[in-house]
Order: sequence, then C-alpha cells, then structure tokens
Amino acid sequence: MTLSVGPVPMMKAVADKLRDSDIEAWVSLNAIMVDGTGMCGACRVTVGGATRFACFHGPDFDGKQVDFAELMTRQKMFNDKEKIALEAVGK
Ligand code: FES
Repeated sequence: MTLSVGPVPMMKAVADKLRDSDIEAWVSLNAIMVDGTGMCGACRVTVGGATRFACFHGPDFDGKQVDFAELMTRQKMFNDKEKIALEAVGK
C-alpha cells in the first residue's frame, strides 16, 4: 500500500503508476476547503463516480478512483483572486 501526500499532480502520477497493480494507492487530497464541515461543497471531489467532500469523507481516498482531471480544474478556480490578493500584499 502507498499513501501519497503532496501536490495533486504527484498524487495522480503515483495512482497512475500503480493503476494496473495490486498495490493500493491511497492519496490525501488537499482540495480547496472553505467551511470544513461538509456543508459548502468547496472541497467536492469525484471518487469512483460518486461525489465526495474531502473535508468530511476524506481527506484520504483510493487514488485509483479519484477524478484527478476534475480536481485539478477545481484547484485553479480561485487563481485569479489569489493573484489579486498576492498583488495587494506586494508579493
Ligand atoms: S470545505 Fe466545505 S464541504 Fe468541505
């Protein structure tokens, strides 16, 4: 069994590498979180075709079942606002 914790592309790579093996590929998802209670939906991920909330159902999931393409798209949803915030503080 493996447990990957870190950048989403790295966790995806581990899951992809182990996809055809008997080795379990658990990942600890760092989805965007707002309330951390399972109420706001910000951390929504699709795992095995089912909607899950990383803050409530996870953050650890079977990486071979995670829709990483969707997760990576959702991770970028506040990029423009993050850029504005970083510019506002001079970074
Ligand atoms: S952070 Fe709001 S549902 Fe998970």
